[in-house]
Amino acid sequence: MSAYFITGTGTDIGKTWLSCALLRHWRAEGCVPQAFKPVLSGFDMATAETSDAGQLLAALGREIDAAALDDIAPWRFSAPLSPDMAAAREGRHIDFDALVSFTRRCFAERTRSIPVNTAGHAIFPVLIEGVGGVMVPLNETHTVRDWVAASGLPCVLVAGSYLGSLSHTLTALESLRKVGAGVTAIVVNESPGSPVSLADTIATLRHHVGGVDIVAISRDAPQPGIEALAFLLS
Ligand SMILES: Nc1ncnc2c1ncn2[C@@H]1O[C@H](COP(=O)(O)OP(=O)(O)OP(=O)(O)O)[C@@H](O)[C@H]1O
Ligand SMILES: [Mg+2]
Repeated sequence: MSAYFITGTGTDIGKTWLSCALLRHWRAEGCVPQAFKPVLSGFDMATAETSDAGQLLAALGREIDAAALDDIAPWRFSAPLSPDMAAAREGRHIDFDALVSFTRRCFAERTRSIPVNTAGHAIFPVLIEGVGGVMVPLNETHTVRDWVAASGLPCVLVAGSYLGSLSHTLTALESLRKVGAGVTAIVVNESPGSPVSLADTIATLRHHVGGVDIVAISRDAPQPGIEALAFLLS
């Protein structure tokens, strides 16, 4: 099944950037991907195209309108805060079971019968972008990692190469494992201006991740990293 939860070590780490790069790459390869950003805070309809959902729709080649936003990002909040806080500002509350049901529906219909292209790849990959890092609260009782685990989807953990990222990445990995969430790959998205090199970050991580695939995205040459993620389609 080519459906993945795209999570990360924190906000602004590159989840949307990676998702859009994969969507564009897969479309160029003849796939028909789908992507969702079910929970979106800091949303303003006036700047919808720069929102995560707007970027995903653009990468999918879809119009950015209210219907499409409702389709891929139904839990939208105005405040640029964690989802629990942003929802509370509007007198709302994220119903975890409803969120999990929505997430499962996102991929259930598309993965029931997967046609393959000439390269033998599934052509209907689905990406679900989470929100912030893995321990971001969704409400008083659940965090993003609970959402990942309950979705039943394997995840891609997006991390950086900034000083301090090693601990953040390994903490996120342990945290996901503790609730039984499967981590298919760690994508180290190069942090600009870091005193730590991308190669050194990956070499050190490899000792501690128990064989999880690690893929490097260099700011100067991102395409090889995107191509190296071809195994996500198998
Ligand atoms: N490899 C990259 N090359 C160039 N720009 C990047 C890269 N990765 C991330 N960025 C930029 O860094 C910023 C933050 O990335 P992005 O929006 O993907 O983070 P995020 O993890 O999705 O954040 P959020 O928690 O808000 O969803 C964006 O402006 C994005 O375009
Ligand atoms: Mg994002």
